[in-house]
Amino acid sequence: MTAKIPTSRVDRLLSSMGYGSRAEMARMARAGGITLDGVRLPNVTKRIPVTRDLPTRMKIAGEALDPVAGMVLLLNKPLGMTCSHKEAGPLVYDILPKRWKRRDPAISTIGRLDKQTSGLLLLTDDGDLLHRVISPRRHVRKVYHATLARPLRGTEAALFASGELMLEGEDKPLAPADLDVISATEARLTVTEGRYHQVRRMFAATGNHVEALHRERLGGLSLPDGLAPGQWTLLSEDEIALIFQ
Ligand code: URA
Repeated sequence: MTAKIPTSRVDRLLSSMGYGSRAEMARMARAGGITLDGVRLPNVTKRIPVTRDLPTRMKIAGEALDPVAGMVLLLNKPLGMTCSHKEAGPLVYDILPKRWKRRDPAISTIGRLDKQTSGLLLLTDDGDLLHRVISPRRHVRKVYHATLARPLRGTEAALFASGELMLEGEDKPLAPADLDVISATEARLTVTEGRYHQVRRMFAATGNHVEALHRERLGGLSLPDGLAPGQWTLLSEDEIALIFQ
């Protein structure tokens, strides 16, 4: 069975993507600012199929249309930005184009990284996908590089792998996690859950302290070479599938 391609009125589509009100879209179309396959689209009440390739075919004021709903972005999160729509201070959403704040459905981070954690962060407007990725039942692997304040004791790997480590204030032990020691004060930790401050609390449970934390991988995705902190890229369908690999 092939999936049915959704259709939308042009004014509704553009308005839901944050370009402006439906009346503004109608004015822009009348002025020749909206084209599809190189042809002016003066009537914004027209219904069109909303396909992923629409940005290659539609132009708004001479610029390619933004990605349509169902997008997944991979951001190299810089230090000092918060994964929240509401909190004060620099937010990861400030990195995205301004009009994307008006998109409906809204774009959200898939899980969170702390303000002082850097690295691979996914964002999406696809709520079903978001829940599938963060569900502990899916066991999506997250790989962190941790720099520690004190030398490792040598007992951490066995404790993290045991499936018996209980974090303070919780009543369910952590799923087994894999520790790969890089040096006395550096390690790579692979976890399949996403509990609050999980990595920092795991090392705190061993009497250590995480000084720097960076997420390198999520499922089968890793940070692309050359994607500097603060830069993001739109994932293809094949790349999205890698999340669950
Ligand atoms: N674990 C943490 O402690 N912080 C993060 O940002 C991610 C995982």
